[in-house]
Amino acid sequence: MRLKIAVLAGDGIGPEVTREATNILRAVAELGGHDFSFVEGLIGGVAITASGTPLPTATLDAALESDAVLLGAVGDNKFNSLTPDKRPEAGLLQIRQALGGFANLRPSVAYSALSASSPLRPEVTKDVDILFVRELLGGLYFGSPRWWNKETNEAINTMRYTRDEVVRVARVAFELASKRRKKVTSVDKANVLEVSQLWRATVAEVAKDYPEVTLEHQLVDSMAMHIMNIPRNFDVVLTENLFGDILSDEAGVITGSLGMLPSATIGGAVNLYEPVHGSAPDIAGTGKANPLGAILTAAMVLRHSAGLEQDARAVEQAVQKVLDAGYRSADIARGGENVQLVSTQEMGKRVHQALTESIDRRQAMHAV
Ligand code: IPM
Ligand code: MN
Repeated sequence: MRLKIAVLAGDGIGPEVTREATNILRAVAELGGHDFSFVEGLIGGVAITASGTPLPTATLDAALESDAVLLGAVGDNKFNSLTPDKRPEAGLLQIRQALGGFANLRPSVAYSALSASSPLRPEVTKDVDILFVRELLGGLYFGSPRWWNKETNEAINTMRYTRDEVVRVARVAFELASKRRKKVTSVDKANVLEVSQLWRATVAEVAKDYPEVTLEHQLVDSMAMHIMNIPRNFDVVLTENLFGDILSDEAGVITGSLGMLPSATIGGAVNLYEPVHGSAPDIAGTGKANPLGAILTAAMVLRHSAGLEQDARAVEQAVQKVLDAGYRSADIARGGENVQLVSTQEMGKRVHQALTESIDRRQAMHAV
């Protein structure tokens, strides 16, 4: 298996967590005899500092020429006074658009070892396994008109969707649900917004092609509540762009920390992989960052770009093993007994070790 991966580590904790993720990919390549190559590029604040723009052409070209893009995080308080189109985040939105992936998959899986890390009771988070399918190229993030008129003190953003944009992301949600627990919960605000009425009607139409999958509609406000009350009830959760942004951060609470959440964006020319968390500038360089979101993102690279499902699972199981053994980064250290606080690097090393052991074992079994 050959895979060319563009690594855009970005700002804040981006580089330190991405390093642990690429170490894991290198280990999988070495153990399985695969040819993974890595090319690095600048994005976000570091790119603005180096070249005046958050997404330099060289970075975009490298991304488009690769088989997968692994991104760390973007965002730096240094640029807080800039308008949205000049900020580090603009680089991320531009690369999402250029790569064309419209379905952002954000799994929210509660590891039982972390049940004490969540403020929710263990019986609430037990067995939670939600897959958010967040539409990533439409809605308020990209609709026009968009402006801020400082003379009239008026500003506008536009939530716009076409039927085709809803159909294509809904299909991804139903396809994935048909291989899981066969339930799609579509989130909207159809009691207020026309765009949500289009969304709801279109999703209902797509659902007819998937009779084995149950469809339920939820309004986003009550969904925000249900997801805390009975997260176990949800399988695939389909949302427009902004609702998915908000609800997926909320779902981080179920797993114990936003630092645990990975994501993959599929459907475009090149898949884009990024942990859900941000650049956390306050802890950058301190060794406190949780690399597990990035490492689980690497597992999604193996699953969705390399077709190495068994290795993807091996990485996820290695993470579980390390958590079961009590190793914790600062964000997930709350409440547990017999836990050992470790640095970003140490956590990466532990996962690497557990992964090597499990792949060695698998290969030994195949050899007999
Ligand atoms: C995310 C982030 C981004 C988003 C920002 C950094 C543009 O919050 O990936 O969830 O809003 O999509
Ligand atoms: Mn977000």
